Amino acid sequence: MARVQRQGSIILCVTVVLPLFEPGPVRPAFAQGPRSLSSVRLLRLSVTDRCNLRCVYCMPEDGVDFHKQTDLLSARDIVAVARAAATIGVDHFKLTGGEPTVRADLCEIIEGVAGLTTGRVAEQGAGQAPVDVSLTTNGMLLDRLARDLRSAGLQRLTVSLDTLRADRFERIARGGARSLGGLARLLRGLDAAEAAGFERIKINMVVMGGVNDDEVVDFARLSLGRPWTVRFIEYMPLGESTMIGHSAEATVDNAAVKARIEAACGALEPVDRQSEPGVGPAGVWRLPGARGRVGFISAMSRPFCETCNRLRLTASGELRSCLFDGGEVNVLPALRPAPDAERIIDAMRRCVALKPETHSARGNRAMSQLGG
Ligand code: GTP
Ligand code: 5AD
Ligand code: SF4
Repeated sequence: MARVQRQGSIILCVTVVLPLFEPGPVRPAFAQGPRSLSSVRLLRLSVTDRCNLRCVYCMPEDGVDFHKQTDLLSARDIVAVARAAATIGVDHFKLTGGEPTVRADLCEIIEGVAGLTTGRVAEQGAGQAPVDVSLTTNGMLLDRLARDLRSAGLQRLTVSLDTLRADRFERIARGGARSLGGLARLLRGLDAAEAAGFERIKINMVVMGGVNDDEVVDFARLSLGRPWTVRFIEYMPLGESTMIGHSAEATVDNAAVKARIEAACGALEPVDRQSEPGVGPAGVWRLPGARGRVGFISAMSRPFCETCNRLRLTASGELRSCLFDGGEVNVLPALRPAPDAERIIDAMRRCVALKPETHSARGNRAMSQLGG
């Protein structure tokens, strides 16, 4: 299977300790948009940096230095940032972690965010529209929590699933994977989520060369019988993940993944992205006759930075402009002693201005600290 060409340079950068920035394509002159506040459609809210698993692509086995619980934003803080964002037209909110379901007051956060309305539609004269709230989870606690999440107002769910083989699952997810109940529990969680009313679940598979890339056709076929969107994600070298030293082998070009799926299942049919909920970076397709879809998130082989429409809030209160290497703006001063919407919006404006032309070869923070 073909690998991403840039990886040679990733390894080179690491070996000779050169700066990790690659020149990359220059943002076209017409695309100044991503650095303006009005381009921000999605705020990703990381509610914790902790996780009940230790996936190889996300963390070292012994974890990272987690924040003290007392250093995390409160539910009230998080909702205050989301509320300020909604007033300037941010209409999508993604709750992430670490693993968001390990946070005890997650439903309180969902209730607060789901109750917001966005200024975006109102500006167009169509009245106040409710915001879109989705959650990305490793699924291990969904069997217990899916109903509560739904009742709290969560509209959409994305579940990480990287293998359909139980033994491989434990090797990839490590941590408490086996003691939590392993792959079988995750699959029960998916059933529970559907039973709770999450109909069009998105599945995230991080494809890693030599680890799980032999399962991409099996994953694509999951979309035949279930109304899921199964997304193939190129491994991104971020922070201290266990795969970092193997980036060149680990990142598989999604063009090769797509070719492999088409060879086995027939030509994929393009799907109008407008009909897909969310404003994420996936290109979406359908297998002939399938109920669901397949998606490709190709941040390494085809960076999509010039159309970036998101900001991130870390669990400890930094607004972050880019998953890889964006500058950060501390939002805490705008939250203490009481939330000040104007200052929160100003922090967002300063943060969005820090977006890079295109992301570098390697991110400086672990995925678990950023929430994807
Ligand atoms: P939904 O489609 O609404 O579920 O949102 P999403 O696809 O943006 O979110 P999800 O949390 O499922 O992320 C899917 C993958 O895309 C993860 O691996 C993210 O790290 C990656 N991703 C999301 N946003 C960005 C981005 O702005 N830049 C890059 N490079 N990757 C991103
Ligand atoms: N590269 C690509 N995707 C990753 N994810 C976590 N770590 C990485 C990585 N290094 C994905 C997980 C999760 C989403 C938030 O990010 O699959 O679903
Ligand atoms: Fe935006 Fe950074 Fe993602 Fe590029 S890598 S799309 S700039 S968040």
